[in-house]
Amino acid sequence: MDIKKGIVVNFKTYEEATGKRAVELARICDFVAKEVGSNIIVAVQAADIGPVADHVSIPVFAQHIDPVGYGSATGWILPESVRDAGATGTLINHSERKLDMGVIGKAIERARQAGLSQIVCSGAKTNEETVEETRAICAFGPDYVAAEPPELIGGDVSVTTKPELIEGVVRAAHDVDPDVGVLTGAGVKTGQDVHDALRLGTVGVLLASGVTKAKDPEKVLLDLSMGAMRD
Ligand code: G3P
Repeated sequence: MDIKKGIVVNFKTYEEATGKRAVELARICDFVAKEVGSNIIVAVQAADIGPVADHVSIPVFAQHIDPVGYGSATGWILPESVRDAGATGTLINHSERKLDMGVIGKAIERARQAGLSQIVCSGAKTNEETVEETRAICAFGPDYVAAEPPELIGGDVSVTTKPELIEGVVRAAHDVDPDVGVLTGAGVKTGQDVHDALRLGTVGVLLASGVTKAKDPEKVLLDLSMGAMRD
């Protein structure tokens, strides 16, 4: 799947983006994407994948999968199950659902076997550590990496205030594997933030609270879309 100028909205476990409200919010994302031609993807909780996928035609991602197979893996998330529910991709190693590097490699492999696109997150205490983690992840050849400095997640300061981090991550990723697309996220709230992220060499952004907690998500999604589509 091509995440060109993509706006990936992670619904996390926000109350405003769970259950019926996940479907409502996804429909708004779907409406805006169609209205203006932007590339919006939603990453929803496992239980919401089926209902959301039934109501939208934009891509629906899982927020996590486990590197397990059919059989004895009670309570784990089977890649094939999220695919069969309607997901076309998955996040892996989000800051709030960190995995060991070996497990990340296996999760990428299993997601690929199930036909799911992968966005693998990186993010550590320092810029240098985030760049190193990105490099290690890219060695597994995922479709995408998404660098998110943990301290900016959920706040009002955009990752784009750290251009040196974004450029460093893009350089490192492409140094290891030129085919890996790079996204970034944390604190992204406006079209200007999206525009800045793209200008710094990313293919898109990963964001959550800017949309899920917005009083008027449609207005925010339109602004984000305009930023993505601006030259
Ligand atoms: O997955 C996106 C996320 O971690 C960033 O969250 O609320 O800062 O956009 P937020």
